Amino acid sequence: MNPLGWDNYLNPNQEVQRRREACGNSFKGQRERIRDLARALSPKTAVCMGAGHLNDIPIGDLIAGGSSVFLADWMRGVQQEAFLREVVQNVDGRFKCAICKNPENPREYCPNFSLPDNMPARREEDHCGNFMHSGGFFPLCANFQWGLFPRFLESDVTQGRAGHFAQRVAKAIMNARTPREVFKRACREARDCGRARDFLPVHDHSADLITSSMLVSQFDHEPYRYMSLLLAEKFGEQTIMEKAPVLTPLMQKLRDDLFGTQVEGHCREMARLLKPGGRVYFSVETFHKSGESGTWFPIILARQALAIIEAHFDYDFDALPADKLKEKIKILDGESMVECYVLAPKRPDADSKYSEE
Ligand SMILES: C[S@@+](CC[C@H](N)C(=O)[O-])C[C@H]1O[C@@H](n2cnc3c(N)ncnc32)[C@H](O)[C@@H]1O
Repeated sequence: MNPLGWDNYLNPNQEVQRRREACGNSFKGQRERIRDLARALSPKTAVCMGAGHLNDIPIGDLIAGGSSVFLADWMRGVQQEAFLREVVQNVDGRFKCAICKNPENPREYCPNFSLPDNMPARREEDHCGNFMHSGGFFPLCANFQWGLFPRFLESDVTQGRAGHFAQRVAKAIMNARTPREVFKRACREARDCGRARDFLPVHDHSADLITSSMLVSQFDHEPYRYMSLLLAEKFGEQTIMEKAPVLTPLMQKLRDDLFGTQVEGHCREMARLLKPGGRVYFSVETFHKSGESGTWFPIILARQALAIIEAHFDYDFDALPADKLKEKIKILDGESMVECYVLAPKRPDADSKYSEE
């Protein structure tokens, strides 16, 4: 057997492209709320976790607002492609480049940015003097050159817990004689991957704004799906189905543990990066109704995620209007309720405040 390596598995495929198109409109509300929060905070540094296709990331607004933006996602190349789609917009035939509006560090976004003579008029300009329409599919500038920002981090946002698990479990599957043996080993690996400490290359307490939007529900899918794929490849789907009565409880425990450890790693990484006074925009799907069923099901793991979040952050319900914090969206073949939270660094005494009363 030649198992599919984890790194190759993370290369985008047609399914990824299909999801991008399907989620574009669904995440518009997220994008608006993150934009509103960024306007209120004027972040010097923004870190967007699971930024992927930037469906929910107002990248143009962040750049125009003067932020140094870090985009983190483990899928290869998708963030760069999304950025190129977004940086210049064709608005009624006028090409508007977000970099031109950036008052702080435009050359860090494009070393070819040309400073206009008339500085106060810059915010009125659509693009800098070096703009030349590239004539391609996106309204890109032919003189655009990659700069220091946005910084694309092709990294795991769980402090490496997901990646460590995936790599270790791939080895376990190669050496195992039965599927049961794989699950037993995998449960151990799910616990051990909590020791991973793969930090994003961003300084401690340097981020004024962090976004984790529609991300944590993904921790239920990967790297578990990767493991299932390798398992089926080695033992065959039929054998796995036949052994379902024995494997199902092990599988459920593994999924729960794997989800919990990833959320924990993700929260630790966000807490490490967040500046005192900084804020996290966090959103999660809490209920789902699939096309056919007509019944709304609670997403239990979202509650588990919120319990972990509460251990690391305080809530800030003043940062965004309360009526914007819940949204019903259409997504793929169903509908979802999405809850959004603004999180603040946890005050050391906050935990005990009410429990002692
Ligand atoms: C549902 S999408 C979030 C919305 C996304 N920003 C968009 O534009 O559609 C989840 C993203 O998180 C990424 N992701 C999931 N788990 C991750 C992890 N452990 N580390 C880094 N990225 C992860 C996925 O590759 C995907 O791009």
